[in-house]
Amino acid sequence: LAARRFWVRFPAPVFLHGVSMFSLCMVAGLCRGACVEVDSDTEAVANEGFKLGCISCKMRAEVPAKAVVTWGFRGADDQEFSPLYEYEEKRGSVLDPRFEERLDWNGSKNTEDLQDGSIYILNVTFNDTGTYECTFRRTLIYTNYNFENSTTKQIRLRVVPKRKNRDILVQILVQIQILIQIQICFSPSLCPCRAEYLAVASESKENCGAVQEAE
Ligand SMILES: *[C@@H]1O[C@H](CO)[C@@H](O)[C@H](O)[C@H]1NC(C)=O
Ligand SMILES: *[C@@H]1O[C@H](CO)[C@@H](O)[C@H](O)[C@H]1NC(C)=O
Ligand SMILES: *[C@@H]1O[C@H](CO)[C@@H](O)[C@H](O)[C@H]1NC(C)=O
Ligand SMILES: *[C@@H]1O[C@H](CO)[C@@H](O)[C@H](O)[C@H]1NC(C)=O
Repeated sequence: LAARRFWVRFPAPVFLHGVSMFSLCMVAGLCRGACVEVDSDTEAVANEGFKLGCISCKMRAEVPAKAVVTWGFRGADDQEFSPLYEYEEKRGSVLDPRFEERLDWNGSKNTEDLQDGSIYILNVTFNDTGTYECTFRRTLIYTNYNFENSTTKQIRLRVVPKRKNRDILVQILVQIQILIQIQICFSPSLCPCRAEYLAVASESKENCGAVQEAE
């Protein structure tokens, strides 16, 4: 297996650097233009910040596009979704008074071609428990016509009290998850960060050889 040979032949510092790069990519969901639709976390800690993740990859990366992202919120006691946040033309606005001054854009920056529509809740309260819905309304711009498409995702958020010390089991699970991600990364078709690895590996000719051989 390519991955196993990597374990053996890759010097630890280079390897760890690669791991951290890859984790970074998974967290950001975006890596060198390759878009990965990572699901949002669903458990927030009261009085801390929380990122509501929402990524919608453009199926045709080569076609220019622009997108508007809107968020809705249905609190635990609400019957229906109400408008929460809107991001259009590089500007965001909070539409729900309950979240006034508490939401920030955490999605794609300096572009209208949005693929990451994440927002950040500052200082989460227990009242933020509920379902969040993000909608991408994307316009693909072809030479002679535009094509509209929209996608909606829902996130069910739980708010928990502050943890005193981090659960050891959770940490172990995170480690296992990272290992699985590494396996995925080394399977040739699925690696979004291959370019980064090769760039790191080429710092040393010998390692670069190992990379090519492993493929
Ligand atoms: C998300 O927003 C928070 C609050 O404004 C900010 O501290 C953080 O750096 C942002 N993160 C990203 C990745 O934009
Ligand atoms: C967060 O909100 C709680 C409750 O509204 C408040 O007591 C606390 O001071 C706030 N913390 C920050 C950092 O704004
Ligand atoms: C949470 O909601 C209750 C009931 O609507 C309200 O009385 C309370 O002030 C809210 N708490 C915060 C921190 O917004
Ligand atoms: C619209 O976008 C969704 C999600 O990105 C995709 O699955 C679907 O195929 C798109 N529809 C069309 C007609 O392209």
